[in-house]
Amino acid sequence: MKNIQLYIKEHKDRFLNELIDLLKIPSISADSAYKNDVLKTADAIKISLEKAGCDSVEICKTDGYPIVYGEKIIDKNLPTVLVYGHYDVQPPDPLNLWNSPPFEPVIKKTDLHPEGAIFARGACDDKGQMYMHVKAMEFMTATNQLPCNVKFMIEGEEEIGSSNLAIFVKNNQEKLKNDVILISDTGMIAQDVPSITTGLRGLSYVEVEVTGPNRDLHSGLYGGAVANPINILTKMIASLHDENNHITIPGFYDKVEELSKEERAEMAKAPFNLENYKKALDIEAVYGETGYTTNERNSIRPTLDVNGIWGGYTGEGAKTVIASKAFAKISMRLVPHQDWEEITQLFKTHFENIAPKGVIVKVKPHHGGQGYVTPIDSIGYQAAAKAYQDTFGKTPIPQRSGGSIPIVSLFEQELKSKTILMGFGLDSDAIHSPNEHFGIFNYLKGIETIPLFYKYFTELSK
Ligand code: BES
Ligand code: MN
Ligand code: MN
Repeated sequence: MKNIQLYIKEHKDRFLNELIDLLKIPSISADSAYKNDVLKTADAIKISLEKAGCDSVEICKTDGYPIVYGEKIIDKNLPTVLVYGHYDVQPPDPLNLWNSPPFEPVIKKTDLHPEGAIFARGACDDKGQMYMHVKAMEFMTATNQLPCNVKFMIEGEEEIGSSNLAIFVKNNQEKLKNDVILISDTGMIAQDVPSITTGLRGLSYVEVEVTGPNRDLHSGLYGGAVANPINILTKMIASLHDENNHITIPGFYDKVEELSKEERAEMAKAPFNLENYKKALDIEAVYGETGYTTNERNSIRPTLDVNGIWGGYTGEGAKTVIASKAFAKISMRLVPHQDWEEITQLFKTHFENIAPKGVIVKVKPHHGGQGYVTPIDSIGYQAAAKAYQDTFGKTPIPQRSGGSIPIVSLFEQELKSKTILMGFGLDSDAIHSPNEHFGIFNYLKGIETIPLFYKYFTELSK
């Protein structure tokens, strides 16, 4: 494509400033106190899509936060790319661990980002990565090089489960009709190792509640004689893994796809340095399921993790008490073929079964979603690979990610099209953590690579 590097060079400062403005709006979907900010972000996205050359842009109302939809149809006979992204962000807490306020973006250099990185909640997940697509669109329309039709669908509820988007997709099949779905909401292996995500894990998220006595008790007067819900809960949770770190829920592994020796050997070729991995996290050893490597444990294997646990007295000093209730939030990452609703049911049945007499256990399912795998011989994958080849000078490595974007499998089910996951973030960019950031190099490389995807996808579709 003509002049893409030149265009980026000329407009670089504006590209950065526009993203910074977007990052200043605290679009935290999980916290209703930020409702107006989430809505304001949708308006800002609408304006940016209009400016980028979309012909019609609308804010589509849902029962939750709106979906911003925009399109530019240049020729019905040409292929259509549907771009998906999300404008909502994770809550930024704990705030005291941020080196600068999460919604006051700053640019700082780091070892991995010598050219600077933007620090702010949402910088990488997903405002920064979503906005690369808006700027790539601007480049293609401004220079008259848009090779095909484009549809944008940017939602505001990804971080809380996308339940309203699921309804929107089911109800708007014709409107959303496309030949390929393009998403930048994942990562790449390293700055000089481009990769295309070929798999996402599914998710089942539950909350559990253990109730013992009808009130909090003196731990001396009653201790030893009644079940302590916190003791019981931690014991039950501990029993969910065996000595090999296999999950003990009956039936949990029944549908897990076992990769062949060849596939595992292929995976092992991806560059990975265990020493650096441990060093980056300040841990002496890695930990996980026996028989699998670190990269396998966090991508092709299912997991069960406690995300939060509470109950009893956690204030200053000591209080001698046996709490009436204990709680935990538990997530299970799933691999292709495991059905999240079935797994949620297996968990519920098992967890209620192992509860000892003297406590009542409740399991409340939250959200979930199916995993996803996509082949590397599709036109979409090939087009993405060619685009990376041009901008990085290297063939990208296919990589299965451990993260989840549950809506992707629903896209395939409802819209019958494949999703190409072109991520430009690094695992060390601290998404969902304090000090989230996104490299300027990555941001601009994304803007440079995306138009080439359009070009090759259109050519290969002929
Ligand atoms: N963008 C992430 C998912 C992701 C990140 C996938 C990096 C692969 C690599 C997304 O915003 C996210 O955080 N998803 C949630 C699930 C959702 C239902 C809350 C997740 O994975 O925890
Ligand atoms: Mn995301
Ligand atoms: Mn996220």
